[in-house]
This record gives sequence, C-alpha cells and structure tokens, in this order.
Amino acid sequence: MTDPIIVGITGASGAMMARTMVDALLRRDIPTVALCSNAGRLVWQEEMGENFNDTLVEWQEHPTFSHYPINDLRAPVASGTYPTSGMVMVPASMNSIASLANGLSGNLLIRSADVCLKERRPLVIVPRETPLHSIHLNNMLTLSQIGAIVVPPEPAFYLKPQGISDIVNFVVARVFVALGLDRDLPDEMQYQGPDDELAPYRG
Ligand SMILES: Cc1cc2nc3c(=O)[nH]c(=O)nc-3n(C[C@H](O)[C@H](O)[C@H](O)COP(=O)(O)O)c2cc1C
Repeated sequence: MTDPIIVGITGASGAMMARTMVDALLRRDIPTVALCSNAGRLVWQEEMGENFNDTLVEWQEHPTFSHYPINDLRAPVASGTYPTSGMVMVPASMNSIASLANGLSGNLLIRSADVCLKERRPLVIVPRETPLHSIHLNNMLTLSQIGAIVVPPEPAFYLKPQGISDIVNFVVARVFVALGLDRDLPDEMQYQGPDDELAPYRG
C-alpha cells in the first residue's frame, strides 16, 4: 500500500473541491488523511449545507481514510519521520498560505504542509481568492520557489464546461497529476484543438 496523501481543507471558498478530491482518492483506495481548519468547517457548513462531522462519518466508512483534529499536534502527520506521499491544500485560504510562506505552523494542517516542504515531498496548493494583492502573490511566489506547485482552480474554458462539477473535476484531475498520482489528464480533459494535428501520434 502507498503512503497516505494528506488533504488540508482551509476556510477559503470551494469546499466542493475538497469533497471531490477526497472522494476521488478513496474511490481508488489511496490512503487519505483529511485535516480541516476551524474556518474550513464554517465554510463547509455554508457551501455544502452539511456539518463537516457528518461528512467525516461517511468518509470513515472507508478503511483507508483517517482524520485528525486541527489542534492535534501529536498526530503522526505532524512529524517528518512519518512517511507520506505528499499533500494538497484545497481550497487554500490566503491566511493559511501566508502562515506557510512565513514558516509559521500554528495548527496541524499548516504543520503538515511545512513538513512536506522540509522533507521535499510534493505539496500542491489550490489557492482561492480574488482579486489578489501583492502580499498574496508574493506568498505564493515564495511557496512556488521552494517547490510547492500552485494550481489555481481555473476553468478549462476550451473544454466548454457545462457546470461547476465539470470545473471541479478538472481541478481535481490537475491535482492528481501535480501530486504524481496520474501521469496525464484523462483524454477527455486534454485539448485536442479543432483539427487535432497530433491525432496520428496519439496511442
Ligand atoms: C463563507 C466564507 C468564505 C470565505 N472565502 C475565502 C476565500 O475564498 N479565500 C480566502 O482566502 N479566505 C476566505 N474566507 C476567510 C477565511 O475563512 C479566513 O481568513 C480564515 O481566517 C482562514 O482560516 P484558515 O486559513 O485557518 O482556514 C472566507 C470565509 C468565509 C466565512
């Protein structure tokens, strides 16, 4: 069995992206550790119309799922000695990004992300805020320069998404590739162009 992927859910808008990410990992039986900030729980209630604890009960039916409270700094994922395959912060608030970019690890979620950076493990950040000011941008630049992969939840307009779930599924597919869990996006999410000049070279 592979080492777990950590999913850090912060208080930015976009709870649906976190839900889809965890569901997709569990569908593939990938060991998954979910961490959710206090603000993340508030936004979850607001956007999903469901208490985060109720979602946890559902996920906990899966044998490869685990969860630790946000202040449990003695959880295994707080230590670099505990092997993981990496982490995604989805959605990532500007608050959590600022903490991480400045080396502050005030809760288990940020500490776990900091561990990924110091151990040189994959860390994917899905930031959500608009518009962005220079401090936001500088913090993301800092994280990118030390190896984090920043994946803004941008729609692939060229795929003509039919709704929010198309957009969310595309972002999650991008995160799977960024984490090294998939080599490529699924065929239907790749731009083939109007004439698909590369068609003869595709497998
Ligand atoms: C409904 C709601 C939506 C929010 N959306 C965002 C957002 O999109 N981006 C962001 O950076 N902060 C957003 N916030 C503010 C964060 O929740 C707030 O800065 C919080 O301190 C983040 O804490 P955390 O980083 O520990 O999760 C939102 C707050 C609420 C209540």
